[in-house]
Amino acid sequence: MTPHTPALHIALGEPIGRRASPDLWGIFLEDINDALDGGLNADVVQNGQFEYSPEDRPGWGPLTAWTAQGSVTVRSADPVHTATATHVRLHGDRTAASITNHGYDGMTLGAGPHLLELALRRVDEAAASLTVRLTRGDREIARTSLALDAPAREWTFLQTRLELPADVEDAALALELARGTADLDVVSLRPIDPGTGRPRTFRPDLVAALAELKPSFVRFPGGCVAHGLGLENMYHWKTTLGPRHERRHLRNTWGYHQSMSIGYLEYFLLCEQLGATPMPIVPAGVCCQNLPGGPRAIPQDEMPEYIRDVLDLVEFANGGAETGWGAVRTALGHPEPFGLRYLGVGNEDQITADFRDRFHQIHAALRAEHPEITVIGTAGPNPFGIDFEDGWTFAREEDVAIVDEHGYRTPHWFHQNTRRFDTYDRSGPAVYVGEYAARTSRLRSALAEAAGMIGMERNSDVVRLASYAPLLARVGHTQWTPDLIYFTDTEVRPSASYHVQRMFSHARGEHVCGLEVTGAAARVRGVPDARSVRLRSPGNRVRWSEIAVDGITHPDQVTAADGEEIALPGWGADACEISVQLTRIEGAQGAEIHLGGPAGTTHYTVQLGGWQNRTSVVGRSDDGIGDEIDGPTPLRGFATGVPRHVRVRAELVAGSVRLRVWIDGELAHDVQDRGDPDELVVVGAVAREDGTRILKVVNATAQQRPLEITTPWDGPVTGTAEILAGPDPDEGAPFEAWPHPIGVESLHGRGRLEMAVPAWSFSVITLPAP
Ligand code: AHR
Repeated sequence: MTPHTPALHIALGEPIGRRASPDLWGIFLEDINDALDGGLNADVVQNGQFEYSPEDRPGWGPLTAWTAQGSVTVRSADPVHTATATHVRLHGDRTAASITNHGYDGMTLGAGPHLLELALRRVDEAAASLTVRLTRGDREIARTSLALDAPAREWTFLQTRLELPADVEDAALALELARGTADLDVVSLRPIDPGTGRPRTFRPDLVAALAELKPSFVRFPGGCVAHGLGLENMYHWKTTLGPRHERRHLRNTWGYHQSMSIGYLEYFLLCEQLGATPMPIVPAGVCCQNLPGGPRAIPQDEMPEYIRDVLDLVEFANGGAETGWGAVRTALGHPEPFGLRYLGVGNEDQITADFRDRFHQIHAALRAEHPEITVIGTAGPNPFGIDFEDGWTFAREEDVAIVDEHGYRTPHWFHQNTRRFDTYDRSGPAVYVGEYAARTSRLRSALAEAAGMIGMERNSDVVRLASYAPLLARVGHTQWTPDLIYFTDTEVRPSASYHVQRMFSHARGEHVCGLEVTGAAARVRGVPDARSVRLRSPGNRVRWSEIAVDGITHPDQVTAADGEEIALPGWGADACEISVQLTRIEGAQGAEIHLGGPAGTTHYTVQLGGWQNRTSVVGRSDDGIGDEIDGPTPLRGFATGVPRHVRVRAELVAGSVRLRVWIDGELAHDVQDRGDPDELVVVGAVAREDGTRILKVVNATAQQRPLEITTPWDGPVTGTAEILAGPDPDEGAPFEAWPHPIGVESLHGRGRLEMAVPAWSFSVITLPAP
């Protein structure tokens, strides 16, 4: 510590009369990044029902994840169930017919018993036995056989145990018919839980990682998965119950296949196992708007049935065994209710007339029939902008109890917004920060999230609920980063953000406490330090002509598809104006103009022709992490050989940058970036009923700081500090586990305590009342 290191002093005050929400920290489980099948689902067979199709993903089909030998045909006539009609026919004659499943990345199985289940139909009497083998390369690890003696031409469900002598990775499951003809479907292989003797539903190491977060609630199933890509792709909870082969499979929004093996009953069971209340998100009767046809609403004549479904979900969760859906739950083996208290309606929907109408109908029905349920409305994908404003206005008009805000932003944004909720209206709807993350999975982001969470906790009289997103991500199968928990078949890799979530959840209090803080650091990052102009066109070849920067002309340039940059001198003073004509030579999108420092430092990006060549966006990037600050704005896309004129003006106004962009003479963007400081040292405190005080301290600076805490007690005080810290804010890349142990320190003092707050750290300091 240098003598110049600023000291931090915290005088702990009394509770300020604001109760901290008991449900504040929860989790959001969405089927993204193979979170369910291939993840939480304990079944190691991929595509066990042969329902994969090119609609899920180009190149996929019924035999994806399988290899076939001998006579194997795919068919759908006379299926085991019409919901999952595709199955295979094996015909063994002179040579055996077999199919082998390779799981997700090869199968990983622990030593011990496993249950193989499948549906089989003998087509002729010659089909007398099915050989089951677990192999690794040429090596056979386990073998058994199933006697086929059921009457021919009837589907039968068969089971057998496979005993594995040792753990195995990269294994495959082979099913072989030596003679005769048989149809096969609904194949699964799950480890048997030694405690219960039953096959597992969930992967225990992933459940343990979730349990360690002590979530108050579990949001499910989406996200985008809830409202679906089109009306036919909407998630309907009733079709996820019952035997697996009767469940409706879905093309997953994120480009794969959902078997629904983890359906609503399994979800409720998981909540029960985690001690969390369920928080289903049902579609607001409108599908996702990000489709070529835009949002579509369930036709009005089908709405009564849809509304009934929503009401029935509450009954399924909470109704007594004497109610219709409570009886269904009881018949499925769970007579006790699941304690549903929250229900979300809609996810990031555009606030269209259809949305308003359908939401209103569902909301009114829920209020009339289930006033005990707290309904959560939606306010778009961003924590600002049109959907956000419209969503909030509509929620106030509708008197919705809680509004779901989302914020996937840069660490800079989180540090700039730690006071966001301080000024929220306490008389209107409360807030659920339902999806948030500071890009990326690095320490820098985790500390920014912690700073944001201190702001949420300080305001948890209005911010009642919060959940990071996405939760789970299978390494090598991700559609979205950052994520909270990465995993492979053999490892669970918690990110730095995971530790932040865990530390907050374990360190809850009932009352928000007052504080006096001196020595906290903040930094204004409104303006880039360096001011260059750079031209890029990743993925496209583009000719830049008639280039003028502040009236100085430059020779024509061509940028290549490899993302190479052409730097121009510019933006020397308080304003800079770039005028250019750009013509795409090759490619399918447009180009980018960067203003500010080089990659890795603060700069603005004007992206022209992003998202399928349909939009323009103004973004800002700090420390190599960028985000939109204006747009996406609809754009007539770039066409090869057709020149477009672009003018960009950047001006320093009241300490921050105003950016205007004209495309073909029309103003497409006019945005004033926010100039408020990033709060880099952020402190919050809560108290428990027993008087224990819990302090949370973020130090997102490169300096270790001496910390002195003045406690409300005069006598001896002891406490502990749990510290997440790393030498470099860029440590902790996506797909990796946070590499450093979490430190624990004991603190002792009299009336006051001292410790050193490490650079780049988040500390939770627990001080039991003496
Ligand atoms: O968490 C990933 C996605 O982000 C969610 O599905 C969606 O709601 C949001 O856009």
